[in-house]
Amino acid sequence: MSYGEKISLKSRRELDQMREVGQHTGEILLALRERVQPGITTGELNDFAGKELKRRGLNSPFLNYSPGGLPPYPAVLCASVNDEIVHGIPGSRELKEGDIISLDFGVESQGFHGDSAVTIPVGPISEKARKLLETTRDSLYQGVEKMVPGKRLSDIGAAVQIRAEGDGYSVVRQFVGHGIGRQMHEPPQVPNYGSPGRGQRLQHGMVLAVEPMVNVGSEKVRILDDGWTAVTVDGQLSAHFEHTIAITDAGPEVLTRVEGSH
Ligand code: CO
Repeated sequence: MSYGEKISLKSRRELDQMREVGQHTGEILLALRERVQPGITTGELNDFAGKELKRRGLNSPFLNYSPGGLPPYPAVLCASVNDEIVHGIPGSRELKEGDIISLDFGVESQGFHGDSAVTIPVGPISEKARKLLETTRDSLYQGVEKMVPGKRLSDIGAAVQIRAEGDGYSVVRQFVGHGIGRQMHEPPQVPNYGSPGRGQRLQHGMVLAVEPMVNVGSEKVRILDDGWTAVTVDGQLSAHFEHTIAITDAGPEVLTRVEGSH
């Protein structure tokens, strides 16, 4: 894992801009979440998100995103259902009662980025699924608690891993969190596992997207033929929660959190 790259430090003015784009991200994600119900398609959720971006004069950093020769991502939202871990492409799939769906959404505005994800129930869900969602959200916040000046980068992932594995789940290794700012993906990588006390010291002005992906069964990942959709190899459930968080002298500031959100 590469811990050594240069992490950009945001000025007060840049943090204000990150806060603004973060709030748009959180508000739209919350509005999406309110639309989730049995019968809606993931494509309809994506259409709503696209309209909301347009209405607010914002851009999508996801649309046509094409890292390392992958086919350009064809939507503004990632919608990953049940055993899909991340990067599910919205389409004609209808949600049904008992499903869980991860909504992963990003915004670009005036050169800055917000990135957030939440996994939510579709109607009543099993106790097994409910517990997975609760633990995954909590593992994110265990990581957030470590985001204070003077701690080290690997303290975040170590805290996430201890919380998730403590409940008998596995954490996905193949995808990691990331620095965020003028780019959606900046250094450093932020894995959801590892030993504490390693890597760079955290400083006021760093902004990171922390995004644990937690599986009921094996951590192993398979990519579907669309080139994007990541699913669990064993077909068991996976959950994903993400926030964009600023490290400040006053403590962690969750830039993508809005009233009523995760
Ligand atoms: Co992200």
